[in-house]
Amino acid sequence: MRKIIFVTGNPHKVREAGDILSHVGITVEQNNCGYPELQEDKLEDIAKFGAKWAADRLNNEVMVDDSGLFIEALGGFPGPYSAYVFDTIGNARILKLMEGETNRRAVFKCVIGYCRPGEEPYLFSGDVVGDIADEMQGTGGFGYDPIFEVGGATFGEMGEDEKNRLSHRYRALLRFAQWLENLDKKT
Ligand code: IMP
Repeated sequence: MRKIIFVTGNPHKVREAGDILSHVGITVEQNNCGYPELQEDKLEDIAKFGAKWAADRLNNEVMVDDSGLFIEALGGFPGPYSAYVFDTIGNARILKLMEGETNRRAVFKCVIGYCRPGEEPYLFSGDVVGDIADEMQGTGGFGYDPIFEVGGATFGEMGEDEKNRLSHRYRALLRFAQWLENLDKKT
């Protein structure tokens, strides 16, 4: 089993990544060293900076995860500002902003940054297209899960297994795991 240090303060992300990666022989260990989250317009730039900062700081290979919810009718808001918006206005206010809006389309995107000390980071992204629900549904998951719907159910209504088979995080981590596997074959 290969072990990857996942630098994040979010235990839900660790749990999901641990479950997803366990199927491809990788275990995940959380480190909460708190890398500076740049307020950038692109998830990629945030993940790139965080992965490099943490790899150099811990002198170890690490991965980070930066995710965002992009709502079409709101011009992609909150996107890279998803954490700030969730902490300030939250799901109820987002639903208020979406009241009467017929275009409910939204994309959840995850960017995994991976870096070894002294090297440049690699990025792997995954996204899932869904809809903003009319009201909060379900008690599972975290963050925007109760308002993000895929195939008629919100992530909050799905069991963890179902979310982890189709989520933005699953798709990004799968790319990452395939890349690691190819790398290991070459070395
Ligand atoms: P960050 O990647 O930690 O910056 O997350 C941005 C925001 O999106 C935070 O408020 C997270 O709680 C939320 N978030 C990240 N991933 C998910 C997810 O898989 N489901 C629901 N909310 C998420």
